[in-house]
Amino acid sequence: MILLDGKKVSNDIKDEIAVEVNLMKARGEKVPHLAAILVGTDGASMTYVGAKVKACERIGYESTLIDLPEDTSENVLLEKIHKLNTDEAIDGFIVQLPLPKHIDEQKVLEAVHPDKDVDGFHPANVGRMALDLPCFLSATPYGILELLERYQIETSGKHVVVMGRSHIVGRPMSILMGQKREAGNATVTVVHSRTKNLSEFTKKADIIVAAIGISEFLTADMVKDGVVIIDVGITRVPDETKTRGYRLAGDVHFESVSKKASYITPVPGGVGPMTIAMLLKNTLLARERHMQ
Ligand code: GUN
Repeated sequence: MILLDGKKVSNDIKDEIAVEVNLMKARGEKVPHLAAILVGTDGASMTYVGAKVKACERIGYESTLIDLPEDTSENVLLEKIHKLNTDEAIDGFIVQLPLPKHIDEQKVLEAVHPDKDVDGFHPANVGRMALDLPCFLSATPYGILELLERYQIETSGKHVVVMGRSHIVGRPMSILMGQKREAGNATVTVVHSRTKNLSEFTKKADIIVAAIGISEFLTADMVKDGVVIIDVGITRVPDETKTRGYRLAGDVHFESVSKKASYITPVPGGVGPMTIAMLLKNTLLARERHMQ
């Protein structure tokens, strides 16, 4: 079994981007500038946004964090988005999800200008992705493709089972892996909460992308020997033996499934760090496009 070390690969990608940033600086060009909007004080969201800002510092990007209170109205948030859309200094920005319940998430995502949508969540970018056109690929699917490519895992002609149909992970993964691309040309099956006899599908998979949000759902009896496992889940599971009171678990029962897998992503340290690296890559792309 080989661990797919997202932490290492993401650090390699960040180092590669830092080289580009240094070249930009040496040419006297403006460096990429990423902004993030965070609404409220959700613990996980604060951690993720903090990590994104820190990563910007590390590779020499400029970053702006717009921290709004939980009771921010939808209109105020939309105004902030319009400001960022027209601010020449900002190359790309994200609105961290989830948003408080009184805000219409779809309306917010559609307010982000597609050229600055480095999360790749705007319908224009999702549509372009589905049509094989240049676009911002959302960071988690992009990170998974990159991980598969860098470990040279063969996907052509393989049976990929995507567990979950979320807009952020499952849906785009199921489209991307069937496309004509390096980590593509696969035969894709999507399984979800209404799938009957789910393990009949997972047992036939060469590659499983687990993104259903139920901790340790996929167990060893549900997979075949030699399977490649990409675990997108990250859930806080109460654990009194830890000082913080919880541990992080994926959608895969790592201990048992890793014994049968040929490759597997750990949680944490697998897909998670890759998403930050790919967000930074999208921001570099936004800057380059902005210059043209
Ligand atoms: N919440 C969970 N994942 C993401 C992501 O990739 N982008 C944003 N903006 N919010 C998220």
